[in-house]
Amino acid sequence: MVLLPAMSEAIKKKRILTGIQPSGRPHIGNYFGMMKQVVDMQDEYESFPFIVDYHALTTVRDREAMRENILNAAIDFLAIGLDPKKATLFQQSRVSAHTELGWILNCITTMPFLMRAHAFKDAQEAKKKEITVGLFDYPILMAADILLYDVDIVPVGKDQQQHVEIARDIAEKFNNTFGETFKLPKALIKESVAVVPGTDGNKMSKSYGNTIPLFASREEIEKAVMSIVTSNDGDMPENVYAIHKLFKSEAELAPIYEQHKGRFGDLKKVLIEDIDAFIAPMRDRREEIAKDIDAVKEILDNGANIAREIADTKMQLVRERLGVTL
Ligand code: ADP
Ligand code: TRP
Repeated sequence: MVLLPAMSEAIKKKRILTGIQPSGRPHIGNYFGMMKQVVDMQDEYESFPFIVDYHALTTVRDREAMRENILNAAIDFLAIGLDPKKATLFQQSRVSAHTELGWILNCITTMPFLMRAHAFKDAQEAKKKEITVGLFDYPILMAADILLYDVDIVPVGKDQQQHVEIARDIAEKFNNTFGETFKLPKALIKESVAVVPGTDGNKMSKSYGNTIPLFASREEIEKAVMSIVTSNDGDMPENVYAIHKLFKSEAELAPIYEQHKGRFGDLKKVLIEDIDAFIAPMRDRREEIAKDIDAVKEILDNGANIAREIADTKMQLVRERLGVTL
C-alpha cells in the first residue's frame, strides 16, 4: 500500500527518550519511576533509552568502573524487558552530536538561569566541596540529549522535572533566536511513582543508602526490608506500606494489613515474599543476558548507529541555523 504523506504522518509514532546514569546498581525507585515506563511504552512510541556516560563522568573517574557500569546499565534495561528491536538503546558518548550541541546551547544560556537548577546546589551542599564546571553544566548536556531527537515525551522521576523544563526553555530561546529548529519536549511523571520512598521513608536514592536494589538477591531483599524504619508508627507501618503498594494493589493489601495489624515483623515478611516474587524472574533473565556480553555490545553498536544518524541530521540543520555552514 502506498501511504499518502498525511497518512504516514498520522501513523508516525511519537518519540520518547530518557537517560540513565551508569553509576551503579539501579534500585526499585529507578525502576518504577523511570525504567518501567520506557518498557511499557516501547510498543506505542519510538523509544530511545540511553546510557548517559558523559553525565556520569561528573562522578565516575575510574576506567574499569565506567566500562562495567555502562555494560551493566545496558544489561539492566534488557533484563527488565526492553526489546532492542523496538527501542534504540545506546550510549551517549558514541554520538558526539550530544557534546557538540551542548557547547552551542552553553553559548545561548546565561549563568543566572542555570544557577536556578537545584541539582548542582544539592550536590554542592551534600558534598560540602566545590563542584566541577561539568556538574554545573549538567542540565545543558541533558537539554542537548533531548533536543537532538525531536522528542515528544521524557519519562522521568520527579527530581528530573526541572531539567526537562530547562531543556524546553533553552529550545524556545534557540528557536526565537535562530528560527524554528527544536521541538519542545514534555516530562512524563507518573504521579503514583513520582517519588518512590526508600527504607527510611525519604526518597529512595543511591546517595542516601536507603535503596532496595532492583536485581537484589533474596538475602539483600530481606536485609533491606528488615531495615525499613517503623519506629514512630502506631498500628500502621507507613514506610512498609508505601513500598508494598508498588507490588500489590491497595485492594489486595487491605486484608493483609488487617490480618497482621500491628505486627510489623509479619508484614515485613509478606513484603519480602512479594518483592522476591517480582524480582526473581528479572534477576534470572539478567544472569542469562550477562553471559553474552558480545551480544550486548552489538545491541549498543546498532543503537549508536541509529541514534547517530538522527542526531547528525539535526546537527546539520543546527549548523545551518547558526550560519557556520558556508
Ligand atoms: P539516584 O537518585 O538514586 O541517584 P538517578 O538520579 O540516577 O537516581 O535517577 C535515574 C532515574 O530514576 C531518573 O529519571 C530519576 O528521576 C528516577 N528516580 C530516581 N530515584 C527515584 C525515586 N525514588 N522515585 C522515582 N523516580 C526515581
Ligand atoms: N539527568 C538524568 C538523571 O540524572 C539523566 C539524563 C541525562 C536524562 N540526559 C537525559 C534523562 C535526557 C532524560 C533525558 O537521572
